[in-house]
Amino acid sequence: MTQQDWRKSVVYQIYPKSFNDTTGNGEGDIRGIINKLDYLNFLGVDYLWLTPIYDSPMNDNGYDIRDYYQINAQFGNESDLRELVDEAHARGLKIMLDIVINHTSTEHAWFEAARQSKESPYRDYYFFKSSEQGSPTNWESKFGGNAWQYDAQTAEYYLHLFDVTQADLNWDNPKVREALYKVINHWIDFGVDGFRFDVINLISKGDFVDSEDIGKEFYTDGPRVHEYIHEMNRATFGGKDLMTVGEMSSTTIDHCINYTKPERHELNSVFNFHHLKVDYKDGEKWTNEKFDLQQLKTILMEWQTGIYKGGGWNAIFWCNHDQPRVVSRFGKDIDEETRQQSAKTLAIVLHLLQGTPYIYQGEEIGMTDPHFTSINQYRDVESLNAYQTLKSKGYSEAEVLAILGQKSRDNSRTPMQWSADKHAGFTTGTPWIDVASNYETINVEAAMADPDSILYTYKHLIELRHTHDIITYGNIVPRYMEHPQLFVYERHYKGEIWTVVANMTDTVAYLPEDLAALSGDTIIQNGSVTEEYLEPYASYVISVEVN
Ligand code: GLC
Repeated sequence: MTQQDWRKSVVYQIYPKSFNDTTGNGEGDIRGIINKLDYLNFLGVDYLWLTPIYDSPMNDNGYDIRDYYQINAQFGNESDLRELVDEAHARGLKIMLDIVINHTSTEHAWFEAARQSKESPYRDYYFFKSSEQGSPTNWESKFGGNAWQYDAQTAEYYLHLFDVTQADLNWDNPKVREALYKVINHWIDFGVDGFRFDVINLISKGDFVDSEDIGKEFYTDGPRVHEYIHEMNRATFGGKDLMTVGEMSSTTIDHCINYTKPERHELNSVFNFHHLKVDYKDGEKWTNEKFDLQQLKTILMEWQTGIYKGGGWNAIFWCNHDQPRVVSRFGKDIDEETRQQSAKTLAIVLHLLQGTPYIYQGEEIGMTDPHFTSINQYRDVESLNAYQTLKSKGYSEAEVLAILGQKSRDNSRTPMQWSADKHAGFTTGTPWIDVASNYETINVEAAMADPDSILYTYKHLIELRHTHDIITYGNIVPRYMEHPQLFVYERHYKGEIWTVVANMTDTVAYLPEDLAALSGDTIIQNGSVTEEYLEPYASYVISVEVN
């Protein structure tokens, strides 16, 4: 592949545990990824981001790292990873690793040493605090419950913003930072091409005092976060041909501009999640709510124009391993026709935006939420905690299952659907989590055989990004923000305007006059579009010369 501006890239996210199993143990592995490289090459993506593959007790599916230098035996070994990197490179594909450095597993050697005694040289790698009142602060874990865990051995509490087995690292300790930079440099030397930094805006903790909320204000985009990320950049990937993206929890546009402005030498790009919270109720995720299209448009466009004007860079995405499937969420999966139309329109709306698009495994074939019917089908620690909490608040089993069915992270963690074979061709054994029951219709083999499938829309969108600079560099101008059905925006670049028009609903949408009058070249189209109206979930992109 000739060297291209990283900003023109498209990233494909792989959740190895659910991607492809070659051993028959019901869990995916690195060899399984190697076997599918030709497929990913056919799709045309540039980077593959693998969620964590390091040694881990897997309480949070690898986001609880026990050893940063070892590969999780479940996924294979270092020579498998070597082969994956080499085979990917031979095809012009690049590999990004997931770096989880806000916390480690409590089984990490540092934590095991730290918890031994207050005098341990590793004590200050984490946040251990004493408390008379039963908890140093009233902060809550993002997975529910107290963020502090009492450790009887030394009669102090340690901080865990996530699971109780994920202890937060103390970045104020220079030894911690040095040890983490060494980890990153190890993987740079190994030959990977980029990194996704897990919850990286939580690394700088402020004061340890009680919160009026759950504690977020004391560690989100914390006091020294920019200083630390800048230092990490200088000590590791900065100045090298490596792509970086930071996962930013509850962040702001201003912070994200600063995280990504090239002259600040922090990161290339950032994920934020505000546009996905449009089916929360009063900020609460564990509810069963319809999504709000107006809010979705408003938030996306605020971020698009804000980041663009500020000279920063967005990652753009609908799906990942923590989110439900977009076709079930902002589209509709009630029948085949509607699933296909809504998935294609959602793809078009996202891939014409400004920023780096991410495709989560299976999104490109329109995989849906699995619509689980029993709590026994769920595996995710956050979902299982939520189940208990909701039950204890008095919700009925059916209500809780409806909420999990809409919000659980397991919605996107079911096995990749490769074919109509048993277990969707994912494994010859018993999958670690159930395959969605629609795999006989929705699978890669079927999608490849049908030139009208969602897969070819994604392939086409990736090609467009590679060949048309307007998608990467063009200014973005929101249109018809108040329209109750249409999502409309323009891209402007070098005497050309592309107008993206999408009916985001399941009813016919009539076009405003000036859109109906627009004439130019159609770049891509989905569904039936007339001069007057768009069928449900139809969309198109039209190009007009303006000079
Ligand atoms: C990120 C990951 C998520 C994980 C959490 C804690 O949000 O995407 O899967 O549970 O960080 O590491």
